Amino acid sequence: MFFISQQPESTVEFGKKIASLLKPGMVVALDGDLGTGKTVISRGIARGLGVTSPVTSPTFTVAQEYALPDNRFLYHLDMYRIDDENSALAFGIDEFLFAPNAITIVEWPERINRLLEDDQRLLSIHLQHINEIQRRLEIPDAFAEKLCKAGLPGGISLCSAKETLS
Ligand SMILES: Nc1ncnc2c1ncn2[C@@H]1O[C@H](COP(=O)(O)OP(=O)(O)OP(=O)(O)O)[C@@H](O)[C@H]1O
Ligand SMILES: [Mg+2]
Repeated sequence: MFFISQQPESTVEFGKKIASLLKPGMVVALDGDLGTGKTVISRGIARGLGVTSPVTSPTFTVAQEYALPDNRFLYHLDMYRIDDENSALAFGIDEFLFAPNAITIVEWPERINRLLEDDQRLLSIHLQHINEIQRRLEIPDAFAEKLCKAGLPGGISLCSAKETLS
C-alpha cells in the first residue's frame, strides 16, 4: 500500500507509529534515493522505541547502537558505503541482522539484498521523493493494514497505487 507524507514531521510521526507495531528480531529495510527521508523515518522509529538521544545518519560509522528501555537494542545501519554482501559480512553485519533482542533499521539495504531476502522478520519500506515537502512511502499490505487500523498520524494519507508521481 502507498502512503503520502505531507511534511518531515509527519514522517517522524509515521515512524513512531511503525515502531509501535515492531517486534524484537525484526529488520526494517528502508530503500529510496538520497534525501527521500530514510533517516527521518528512522528517527521516528527510534523515538517510538524510546530513544531520546539524537538520531543521525550512521553513514560514516556504518552502525549505530541505541539501548532501549526494555534491555533491548536498536541498531541503525547505513550500507551506503558498503560495496556488497561480502564487505558487509567482513564488517560483522550478521551480528546486527535478525538479532532476537534487537530491532534493526537498514538504510541502503539493496547493498546487502542477499542477506535480507525472503525473511518473515523483514519489513521493507520504499521511499520516493514527490516534491520538497512530500514523500511517498510503499509498505507491504499486511503491515500497512495494521498501521491503518492503529490510526494514521496527521499529515499521512493512504493513496492509491495508481497515483502517479508528479
Ligand atoms: N515528507 C517528508 N518526509 C521526510 N523528509 C522530508 C519530507 N519533506 C522534506 N523532507 C526532507 O528531506 C530530507 C530527508 O533527509 P534524510 O537524511 O532523511 O534522507 P535519507 O533518505 O536518509 O538520505 P541518505 O540516502 O543521504 O541517507 C530532510 O532534509 C527532510 O527535512
Ligand atoms: Mg540517511
